[in-house]
Amino acid sequence: CGNYQYIKVSKVGSRSNVGLIQLNRPKALNALCNPLLKEVAQAMTAFGKDSSVGAIVLTGNEKAFAAGADIKEMEDKTYASWMTSNMHQDLDCVAKVRKPVIAAVNGFALGGGCEMAMMCDIIYAGEKSRFGQPEILLGIIPGAGGTQRLIRSVGKSKAMEMVLTGNQITAQEAEKMGLVSKLFPVEKVLEESIKLGEKIASNSQIANMVAKECCNAAYETTLKEGLHLEKRMFHATFATKDQKEGMAAFVEKRKANFTNE
Ligand code: CAA
Repeated sequence: CGNYQYIKVSKVGSRSNVGLIQLNRPKALNALCNPLLKEVAQAMTAFGKDSSVGAIVLTGNEKAFAAGADIKEMEDKTYASWMTSNMHQDLDCVAKVRKPVIAAVNGFALGGGCEMAMMCDIIYAGEKSRFGQPEILLGIIPGAGGTQRLIRSVGKSKAMEMVLTGNQITAQEAEKMGLVSKLFPVEKVLEESIKLGEKIASNSQIANMVAKECCNAAYETTLKEGLHLEKRMFHATFATKDQKEGMAAFVEKRKANFTNE
């Protein structure tokens, strides 16, 4: 799956239909330096286009999902250099890919790391993981969704407590507040995330993409517009062969074989 320096990329699962991107900069706790983000964007884009891939898992290692943007790289940055660089464009690729993305988090998910996890569709986490937006302690603020996605995910009071104190929260707190979908023992997180990816990848890819698009629209639109979009997209799924196959399989009491048509 390509030659990368800061990430490992493979296709996993019994049908090799889950794309796995593993951040691999352990000495810096997977701090999100520019070259790493470029590679993530490249791998995400490639999996997005690869018709054999039905879901993507993004993970780090047992010590860190990612400890944030690279502070050493950012230290000397200026307003002008931010404005003319495209770092956030690379990071945004995680949110833009149309296939379902699962974050498998162990260890630290801080700053840009927490934001990257929140760009994913579902977060599975290890019992010892820690989440936080510590940017305020560096004299800056979150810059990749920490003041926006976190609010929408956990509500104003909890999000602002995190953003204004920089305090880390435990995996258990993160699950309780709905940031994390499920917790697992450290060594099980990746395996369970891949299993979830396999389950999702066995659906119609078209239905997955339409479902993702509609769920994401809930962040952007009024309820009335969102319900309208959902209804129309629901109708649109009846233009696919996968709808015919899914319903025929139910009636014939067999497993559906979706072909993404
Ligand atoms: N950037 C660059 N290097 C980092 C880093 C980061 N975000 N986080 C950790 N590292 C490096 C450390 O500098 C250290 O390197 P050296 O061995 O060369 O000194 C190595 O990773 C190991 O880190 P520690 O020795 O600090 O490990 P620890 O276990 O004592 O502490 C930690 C772990 C609490 C996560 C601590 O490393 C830490 O606080 N990291 C910074 C977290 C942070 O502030 N993140 C937000 C960044 S800003 C941001 O993300 C902006 C945005 O919204 C896009």
